[in-house]
Amino acid sequence: MAKIIAFGNRKGGVGKSTLTLLTATAISSAPFNKKVLVIDADDQQSLVRYRNEDVTENLEAELPYKIISCLGDINKLHDTLKRASTTHDYIFIDVAGRLDEFTKKVLFYVDVLGVPFQAGNFALESTFDYIQFALNVSQKRVANKMSAIKLIGFVNMYMKRRVRSKDIRESLEAFENHLNVMDNNLGFYSAFMDASTLETVYEKEAKDTAKTNFIKWLNEFIKLAQL
Ligand SMILES: Nc1ncnc2c1ncn2[C@@H]1O[C@H](COP(=O)(O)OP(=O)(O)OP(=O)(O)O)[C@@H](O)[C@H]1O
Ligand SMILES: [Mg+2]
Repeated sequence: MAKIIAFGNRKGGVGKSTLTLLTATAISSAPFNKKVLVIDADDQQSLVRYRNEDVTENLEAELPYKIISCLGDINKLHDTLKRASTTHDYIFIDVAGRLDEFTKKVLFYVDVLGVPFQAGNFALESTFDYIQFALNVSQKRVANKMSAIKLIGFVNMYMKRRVRSKDIRESLEAFENHLNVMDNNLGFYSAFMDASTLETVYEKEAKDTAKTNFIKWLNEFIKLAQL
């Protein structure tokens, strides 16, 4: 049975799609080589668009995983998950951060939910609302004899020299009763802005700081999520 993973937050632009892509690409490539599927269930279709751009620039490329679109159709999502769960190791779902019925139904399928806290953002109410929403869905899963959703919080776009970045770490730690808090932050790097759906930044001998940062972060995420 595939494990289903999503990144979520009610706040926009915190890195949900970027992290879905970076993680899916890494896990489907060496040294992990897992069978991965990505479902783009967000109206913005960011991941579908990124993949189209990547393929246009590199027509010969081998696709490390498929990205399929599923817009607002929970039955299609259900059927896709049912079909793919016996043939894949991990299925990632990119879904908008709205607290609506569709998101509730999507989260019901999610085993591991990464919650990015954006450095420099003090309006944490929307992040807290989202966590509360996910915890309610998690209770429903438990009532249905499924596992609770494993919630994992971490800081994205951290900048070492910024006092504000330190504040967000403190805010994140204040959520410790609700979710697993990661030690590793993700920094603000252009390499993450240019994330590819084809090529992983997880390289064994990486020296580049963005890559080594991601490797540390992913190793911790894998451990906490028990992937
Ligand atoms: N660690 C990072 N370093 C630098 N840029 C980043 C980082 N994470 C995300 N970004 C950039 O921030 C922007 C928002 O990221 P992304 O689209 O992944 O957020 P999102 O949560 O999916 O947004 P939306 O709510 O619109 O779906 C993008 O331009 C992305 O390239
Ligand atoms: Mg997005």
